Amino acid sequence: PNPPGTAPIRPYGEAAIAEAAALVAAGQPVAIPTETVYGLAADATNGAAVARVYAAKRRPSFNPLIVHVGDLEAAGRIAKLDDAARALGARFWPGPLTMVLPTLASSGIAPLVTAGLDTVAIRVPQARAIRALIAATGKPLAAPSANASGSISPTRAEHVAASLGERIALILDDGPSAHGIESTIVAVEAGQLRLLRPGPIGIDALEEAGGLPVVLAGGGRIEAPGQLASHYAPSKPLRLDAVQGESGEWLIGFGAVAGRANLSPSGDLVEAAANLFAALHEADASRAPAIAVAPIPDEGLGAAINDRLRRAAAPRL
Ligand code: TXA
Ligand code: MG
Repeated sequence: PNPPGTAPIRPYGEAAIAEAAALVAAGQPVAIPTETVYGLAADATNGAAVARVYAAKRRPSFNPLIVHVGDLEAAGRIAKLDDAARALGARFWPGPLTMVLPTLASSGIAPLVTAGLDTVAIRVPQARAIRALIAATGKPLAAPSANASGSISPTRAEHVAASLGERIALILDDGPSAHGIESTIVAVEAGQLRLLRPGPIGIDALEEAGGLPVVLAGGGRIEAPGQLASHYAPSKPLRLDAVQGESGEWLIGFGAVAGRANLSPSGDLVEAAANLFAALHEADASRAPAIAVAPIPDEGLGAAINDRLRRAAAPRL
């Protein structure tokens, strides 16, 4: 595929969708319009492709991403849908609603998408471009807003070009996003819907369609994006910057520091990011009473990996 450069902007059409689908199949993220904002989409089942999304956005941490699928049935192959989730999906999909649901063990979603959480955020988008890309790839697409971390969400192809043009391989243009704000996010829980992010679909409509009360996250505050990834931490002590495992420790290696597992023997940060959460889960599930992790260079994706490792190593309450 084209290496990332100054991304060409292609108008929506059959040829552009085929080009985008080929890039996605090759593990490259592409910018694509949805009805809320433009997204930076990658194959959600390919950990390295998802790592390239974080790298392009220069996200300093792994905030979990939304998985975009074609319909309710496809959502049901990834997450457990209860009655409320089915009712909400039937009423608002395709459209600007994202539901956070328990992930099925058989989902095939790369752990980096959910930042190691056991829930997954899913949306069935309505805009024709992302629907066509889902159909052409046959894959669930992980897509955050297509802007560099910390800047505002893009609602036109030119916004994406200005923010990420140097770092991605293709921008698909289908005019301005209809809503212009990100989807409503609701966690579907036992007996309630927890609003994680307000958006185009309001509280009353959610309560009516879902048949459950909506509660605001964090006791009245909207849960800050970026904090959510801190929910998953291993149950064991974790030591950073280990060049060698001490007795009883499960060492997660990197580069020349070999271990029980190695995030990337060749020292590739994309590969290391793709392997991070699976390696932490494996270490946590092992018999070893403690975990150690080799030093990771603090550049590019390494900064996000180190952010996650520092949180995992922090003392628990
Ligand atoms: O409208 C949208 O939702 C756009 C378009 C592209 O679909 N996408 C978008 O993605 O806004 P992003 O990555 O910018 O925001 C996703 C939000 C983050 O705040 C993240 O913390 C939350 O979804 N999220 C994802 N997975 C989650 C999970 N398992 N639990 C709780 N929150 C989750
Ligand atoms: Mg965003």
